[in-house]
Amino acid sequence: MSGRVLFLTLLVVGNFVLHWDTAAAQRRNMADVELDDENYAITLKACYVEDLRNIREHIQNPLTVIINHCYLQELPNAIFIRFSDLHTLEITDSRLNNLQDFALNGLRNLEVLNFSRNNLTTIKSWSDHDLESLQTLDLRRNLVKGINTQSFKRYPNLNKINLAGNLIEIIPEGTFKVVPNLKYLNLGRNLLTSIEETTLKGLSKLTHALFHHNQITFVDFFAFIGNSHLKTLQLQGNQITIFETDLLSNLPRLTFLNISYNQLEDIADYTFKKNADLRVLDLSYNGIENFREDSFKGLVSLEVFNASHNHITQLNKYIFKDFSSVRFLDLSGNRLAYIDNKLFEYSPRLELLNLSRNAISEIEPNIFEDSRKLLTLDLSHNQLAEDAFLWPIVSLNHLNMSDNQFQRLNASVLESFGQVRLNRNPWSCQFLILELMKHSKNVEYGKNYVVESTDSILNTQGIECTDERGKLRDIVVVESMVKPEYSSEYHRFHLLHQEQLDTRPIQDNFDTKSTILWLLSGAFVVFGAFKLIQLILRHSEHQSEKWRLAQHLLQLGFNEVDDVEIAEEKQQHGVFPASPTSKSNNTVAAAGNNQQQ
Ligand SMILES: *[C@@H]1O[C@H](CO)[C@@H](O)[C@H](O)[C@H]1NC(C)=O
Ligand SMILES: *[C@@H]1O[C@H](CO)[C@@H](O)[C@H](O)[C@H]1NC(C)=O
Ligand SMILES: *[C@@H]1O[C@H](CO)[C@@H](O)[C@H](O)[C@H]1NC(C)=O
Ligand SMILES: *[C@@H]1O[C@H](CO)[C@@H](O)[C@H](O)[C@H]1NC(C)=O
Ligand SMILES: *[C@@H]1O[C@H](CO)[C@@H](O)[C@H](O)[C@H]1NC(C)=O
Ligand SMILES: *[C@@H]1O[C@H](CO)[C@@H](O)[C@H](O)[C@H]1NC(C)=O
Ligand SMILES: *[C@@H]1O[C@H](CO)[C@@H](O)[C@H](O)[C@H]1NC(C)=O
Repeated sequence: MSGRVLFLTLLVVGNFVLHWDTAAAQRRNMADVELDDENYAITLKACYVEDLRNIREHIQNPLTVIINHCYLQELPNAIFIRFSDLHTLEITDSRLNNLQDFALNGLRNLEVLNFSRNNLTTIKSWSDHDLESLQTLDLRRNLVKGINTQSFKRYPNLNKINLAGNLIEIIPEGTFKVVPNLKYLNLGRNLLTSIEETTLKGLSKLTHALFHHNQITFVDFFAFIGNSHLKTLQLQGNQITIFETDLLSNLPRLTFLNISYNQLEDIADYTFKKNADLRVLDLSYNGIENFREDSFKGLVSLEVFNASHNHITQLNKYIFKDFSSVRFLDLSGNRLAYIDNKLFEYSPRLELLNLSRNAISEIEPNIFEDSRKLLTLDLSHNQLAEDAFLWPIVSLNHLNMSDNQFQRLNASVLESFGQVRLNRNPWSCQFLILELMKHSKNVEYGKNYVVESTDSILNTQGIECTDERGKLRDIVVVESMVKPEYSSEYHRFHLLHQEQLDTRPIQDNFDTKSTILWLLSGAFVVFGAFKLIQLILRHSEHQSEKWRLAQHLLQLGFNEVDDVEIAEEKQQHGVFPASPTSKSNNTVAAAGNNQQQ
């Protein structure tokens, strides 16, 4: 890099003029300096220690210095000595790994010190006097291996420490004793293996304790005994197996507890008896097999309960008796087989219930009688065949009953709902055909396909069903079809639906036993009719014969038709490709009319 050029971006607003020392500037690489209106805030990018010195010479008493993406491995002593009013110092992404012992001298009014995303390995005072105003210390994502009683000694008024993403394994006794005003402590993503009785000792004002994603296997019975102001406790992503009954009993203000992704197997009776303020409880992704009748006794303020992805096989019907405030309840990914009538009786505010991915074959019919607020119900991936439990529900925005055992259901109930998903159920063909002809836009029975032939694009739904003789059939719904040059509708359609559609040749998905059901709707009838012929009917009497057959089939619900007949016919003539004839054109136009009767 010969001939480094002075390149200084100065965004000086107002009437401040910066007189740079040209000689010094010449030695520099490209530094970006930004000042705000009043010179209260300086932002530096791509800078060296040299630039810091320079700033010190020229700018009096800024309030904020923000330095990022610089090359500042080392900070010399007293580098900020004249910045006695500075309240925010942020040096991030600057490879900082060595601060001389008194680097922060003089920052008596500093409130926020942010050294996140550097290479610091230790935390010290870096000053020979207390930084009495310092409230926030952000050391996220450094390489700090250990902290000790000296680490925070000069920061007596700290109330927020963020040490997430470091390499801390142990917290020696007394480490936080010197910062009695601490409210927020984030030790997430470190290498801690336990929370000892002494870890949080003396932090009587602590409101947030974050220990997520460590390797914690042990939490001392008295770990939180002195932290009665604690509101948020994050323990997710550890290896905790046992949750002592009285662990939380000194935390009357606790509102948020996340202990998902651990190895809990049991929640003892009365574990939360003193946590009447708890709003969010996340127990998901553990190994819990059973709750006890009084596991959740006392959780009268709870709004979010997540026990998904455990091994729960049954629920006592009084288990949620205190859940009068619960709005979100997630029990998905368990092994429940039966849902008792009374289970949600005590949760009139329930808005979302997720029972997906269980083995539920029976839900008592009156279970949702009191669930007036229910908006989302996910029952997908279960063994349900009866829908009577839906009848009392007045309205739902989302109902998901995909992957169950429904052969038919009371579709009139679904009309008042928002989006309904019913994919992959073993439908009876008779039921399905009638439903598909009704063509309720909010109900989804099958997957959408885009079928492309040489010159047409077809939006179809392919749905499997079982006819009265127990034979599997595919029903292909041909909804609409427009060729690009025929209509701009095609483009619109394509853009809107592209992601959720599958594009593949129809032959791959529908076997020869397929039955074709045409539903030509609205504006597409005319275009569709023409194109449909190209695709499905070849020409000639043969094909009108086939169409007649299909119509017959529709009306009779397969009663009279042998699928072999159709299969043969298809093999003979092939579904693709085909060319239109005036004759077949008429046929389908007529068919379209037929449909609308
Ligand atoms: C520290 O700086 C990083 C990066 O600019 C920022 O994301 C973070 O919010 C800052 N921390 C505080 C406490 O302001
Ligand atoms: C700082 O740490 C990063 C990894 O966190 C490493 O790639 C880089 O080499 C380190 N830089 C110095 C100067 O130590
Ligand atoms: C609990 O932690 C997990 C893992 O980090 C996270 O996915 C989940 O959203 C958290 N739960 C709540 C209620 O925030
Ligand atoms: C548990 O459910 C809550 C509420 O729906 C959600 O916020 C949280 O992210 C879920 N937890 C996990 C681990 O997904
Ligand atoms: C229900 O939980 C499953 C995971 O078990 C998740 O995939 C699905 O999105 C959830 N449903 C709703 C409506 O949140
Ligand atoms: C069920 O459908 C809803 C939307 O209706 C969706 O949010 C949810 O993720 C689906 N459940 C599963 C398990 O995919
Ligand atoms: C369908 O559900 C309604 C209530 O929404 C009920 O009145 C009707 O009897 C049910 N029909 C059948 C066939 O069960």
